[in-house]
Amino acid sequence: MKIEKVDSSDLSLLKNFLSTCGLSLARFRYYRTRPLSIIQNHLTTLLAINESNIPMVYGHLDKEDGKVWLGICVSEGNEGKGYGNFMMKALLEEAVKLKTDVIYLTVDKENYNALRLYENFGFKKVRESHTTIWYKWGN
Ligand SMILES: CC(C)(COP(=O)(O)OP(=O)(O)OC[C@H]1O[C@@H](n2cnc3c(N)ncnc32)[C@H](O)[C@@H]1OP(=O)(O)O)[C@@H](O)C(=O)NCCC(=O)NCCS
Repeated sequence: MKIEKVDSSDLSLLKNFLSTCGLSLARFRYYRTRPLSIIQNHLTTLLAINESNIPMVYGHLDKEDGKVWLGICVSEGNEGKGYGNFMMKALLEEAVKLKTDVIYLTVDKENYNALRLYENFGFKKVRESHTTIWYKWGN
């Protein structure tokens, strides 16, 4: 697996990845309300590509309202194989390089694999509604 940074001048790989995501997009809803060109505002946008040159997992760090937010998505059928772990490591390494001390994310309360992944990486629950949990990493 290798990590590639998505370049906002070439969105074809990202477009291709999202077209393979299937039901994963029911949980990762970021692009439902945003155009792909939003990545020009991201701190970083990454895809992890396998040996057959297929993107398996997406990750970003995005600054909105003065806060850095993390987004991650493994394509449908490829969950539970360590890709989420791989991408989280890459995103947190980027955060350190970018001197980002604090990262937030939101997750559906019943997305147990995601909750486990985030908690494994030291994210702490800071807020909760009946559907959503807000997590924070760092100080
Ligand atoms: C949530 C998501 C990023 C996790 O990534 P992943 O590649 O599936 O998970 P990994 O294989 O890296 O495993 C991460 C943790 O979740 C657990 N896990 C993941 N899939 C699992 C499964 N199918 N069954 C049981 N546990 C599972 C793993 O056991 C691991 O925890 P552990 O290291 O303590 O054992 C991924 O499943 C995904 O993108 N899902 C759809 C979109 C989504 O939910 N995005 C996040 C929105 S907030």
